[in-house]
Amino acid sequence: MTSVHKSASPEPYPPLVHETPAMEAAVTALIDRVFGPGRFAKSSERLREGNTLLADCSFVSLRGGAPVGCVRMWPVTIGGEPVAFLGPLAVDPEERSAGLGQALVEAACEAAKAAGWRAVLLVGDGPYFGRVGFSNAHTAGLVMPGPVDQRRVLLLPLREGGDLGLSGPVAVDPQA
Ligand SMILES: CC(C)(COP(=O)(O)OP(=O)(O)OC[C@H]1O[C@@H](n2cnc3c(N)ncnc32)[C@H](O)[C@@H]1OP(=O)(O)O)[C@@H](O)C(=O)NCCC(=O)NCCS
Repeated sequence: MTSVHKSASPEPYPPLVHETPAMEAAVTALIDRVFGPGRFAKSSERLREGNTLLADCSFVSLRGGAPVGCVRMWPVTIGGEPVAFLGPLAVDPEERSAGLGQALVEAACEAAKAAGWRAVLLVGDGPYFGRVGFSNAHTAGLVMPGPVDQRRVLLLPLREGGDLGLSGPVAVDPQA
């Protein structure tokens, strides 16, 4: 399998590859292990149910053929405007603090930029995702499909002003 995330220095974590349908069960098992059963209660999950994975923007890190890290992306709309929605991001506890989480987020966002998305939306911790440019500066008008701490609703522009002027309900993209 060809690695798609290039780095100038050797990486302490396994290379990243695109998620394929054959990996679905193993990736889901990793997400279940990392997040536990409570994950289905999250409002983010409402944006994944019945949605179609953006396979070109979703990545997996495999060690010995088994996923040890993953990031998924989904098509959604904010007040009718299409954006890419990131999540879940999961790294096996054995593989943490080696830069894998950040590499997964960067790979997903680079792929979304290349695919022409204007911005990436996620619900997560500002101190972690702020490192790669996510911010809640322009998310006050976004309405997630369920209870959420609004401070954790974050956007990353993928082009000049890509995070500006977005407001209204966040929903599964009916065109996707
Ligand atoms: C968050 C997560 C993906 C990070 O993976 P990782 O491969 O360890 O990430 P990185 O190596 O890029 O960064 C690790 C650093 O981020 C810090 N960090 C991890 N989670 C953080 C958070 N929520 N807020 C602030 N810092 C955080 C770690 O303490 C670590 O710091 P260090 O480098 O000083 O040791 C991983 O901890 C995980 O799967 N957590 C459970 C699921 C989750 O919370 N997912 C994100 C929400 S969608």
